[in-house]
Amino acid sequence: MQFYERISDELNELKRLDRYRVLPDIPARNGKKIEINGKLLLNLSSNDYLGLGDDRAMLEGYGTQFRKGSYAMTSSSSRLLTGNHPLYDQLEKALALLYGRESAMVFNSGYHANIGILPALCNRHDLVLSDRLNHASIIDGMKIAEAPYQRYRHRDYDHLEELLAAAAGRYRQIFIVTESVFSMDGDLADLFRLVALKEQYGAFLIVDEAHGVGVFGERGLGLCETAGMVQRIDIITGTFGKALASTGAFAVMGALVKEYLLNTMRSFIFTTALPPVILGWSLLTLQRQTSMSTERAELLKLAARLRRELILRGCDVPGESHIVPVVTGSNALAVALAARLSNAGLLCMPVRPPTVPEHGARIRISLRSILEWEDIERIPEIIGG
Ligand SMILES: Cc1ncc(COP(=O)(O)O)c(C=O)c1O
Repeated sequence: MQFYERISDELNELKRLDRYRVLPDIPARNGKKIEINGKLLLNLSSNDYLGLGDDRAMLEGYGTQFRKGSYAMTSSSSRLLTGNHPLYDQLEKALALLYGRESAMVFNSGYHANIGILPALCNRHDLVLSDRLNHASIIDGMKIAEAPYQRYRHRDYDHLEELLAAAAGRYRQIFIVTESVFSMDGDLADLFRLVALKEQYGAFLIVDEAHGVGVFGERGLGLCETAGMVQRIDIITGTFGKALASTGAFAVMGALVKEYLLNTMRSFIFTTALPPVILGWSLLTLQRQTSMSTERAELLKLAARLRRELILRGCDVPGESHIVPVVTGSNALAVALAARLSNAGLLCMPVRPPTVPEHGARIRISLRSILEWEDIERIPEIIGG
């Protein structure tokens, strides 16, 4: 009985702190709009940054292809047993070719990738240095790994260098891990500086491009492509669940690293493989997005305009990407602001701790290339007053 009382008390405490979560009721989600909890709203909380998830022609074309019966809805086993499929091979070859890297691996999700890569590559003889604002999946990966870890201040590469200098010679291998486009702040890692530091200190650099893929780079390969750093980062990860409008994730790397992960990465080995129907769709969206540089440019222009207007009205708007956060600090204020936007027909979810640091509550406006200025022009007035 004590157990049930305790978890009930903890839930009440979450309610008191405005941190209590419930699943939304979403009967329909289509194009710009979403029907949620009985309201039809402009969807500013989707990660479908290029609008590929609602591309009717592509969906229908793919539907015809898989109805012909070639793509199963399940893989029925892990990849190392009987779940592998030629589409995995095609997808991995396409990724390796696009990035110009020796190898690629496809995973069930970005979460699987991040909780599996570090624990496979390092142990207590190694050290992991991680940006303080890295995603929860990276933090969970560090917790699972047996290696000690330290978090450097967000995008503070002088701090990272201090930690590297202090650790030099004391560990078998040092790993640096960062997001490229930070998911809750929309700001960008300095990949030039990170690569320079990694090379100077002989560290191994892992960059999570979850929010960069599809949005940055001429062919949508992410910020690493914009920065010209694709070849100099040891592992680049990306997810299919955001701009690529599918499910799963990938990483590109050297052939030896792939061989090692394939043999040691528990979240790769001990899980049922993705179904072929998803792999075929991922291949299609991956290839399609490479030619969407106009959409990428429009999206970033739209974000820059919104950010400018919000800042003019005195809002605290960090970042420099298509993710536009408006920081309120207090949870209650973030919830109230989201309610105000919802009353005006706009869906911007409030983001509260532990997703963001204590006192860092915000609403997160997630822009997409299918949106136009006219869709969002009321936001600065609603938020800034
Ligand atoms: C930076 C980052 N990495 C990884 C993930 C997890 O990816 P997935 O949704 O494919 O599990 C997310 C988002 O969910 C993310 O924002």
